[in-house]
Amino acid sequence: MSGLVIPVIYGSYRRDRMGIRAARFAVSRLAAMGHEPVLVDAKATGVPILDRMYKEYADGEAPQALEELAKLYDRADAFAIVAGEYNQSLQPGLKNLLDHFLEHYFWRPSGIVCYSQGAFGGVRAMTAWRPVLAEMGMPAISSNVPVPRIQNALSEDGEPQGDAAERLEKGFSKFAADLVWWAEAAKAQRAKGKPPY
Ligand SMILES: Cc1cc2nc3c(=O)[nH]c(=O)nc-3n(C[C@H](O)[C@H](O)[C@H](O)COP(=O)(O)O)c2cc1C
Repeated sequence: MSGLVIPVIYGSYRRDRMGIRAARFAVSRLAAMGHEPVLVDAKATGVPILDRMYKEYADGEAPQALEELAKLYDRADAFAIVAGEYNQSLQPGLKNLLDHFLEHYFWRPSGIVCYSQGAFGGVRAMTAWRPVLAEMGMPAISSNVPVPRIQNALSEDGEPQGDAAERLEKGFSKFAADLVWWAEAAKAQRAKGKPPY
């Protein structure tokens, strides 16, 4: 099985944001493996601050950005979550972006690429995301890709550079293999028939 659809979800609205580099890295490496990563950049999509969830709108009345995300998420086989760390926890923009949906995520795995400009690579945000992603029905795989000092580790277009390059390439390959394994397993299960609910 190949060519999995994998939304790469990123939620910083900061004008000087760095995490877009990690999102570009993930997109480029998943595409190189023959998959279909789709960058979902909260700032570019124009999703509103949560008022109604997508499912709470009458047919055809949801904002266009949400209609497009619903179509994408229906096709998704896995989700790559690009998580920065604010005050040792979640970024509000990413949480807002994800909170618009729930059932669209069910029965698919997620994987976390976390980052920060400091030494810890956003791992505290990664642990904060795990129960949230489980609640959203897209439990996170055990592998993750921490990117410490992202401003040095990745170029603007998302290419690993300097001392971090080899570790990031190896780490992402293992992460992607893990995510694809679970995504293919879930896809095979979904192909057997409707999930339990
Ligand atoms: C409100 C705020 C809180 C932050 N808190 C942390 C933190 O707890 N730990 C950390 O390592 N970095 C923290 N940082 C630094 C971020 O890791 C760094 O700014 C990173 O680039 C944020 O992601 P973004 O550039 O994609 O918005 C914080 C940044 C902001 C703006």
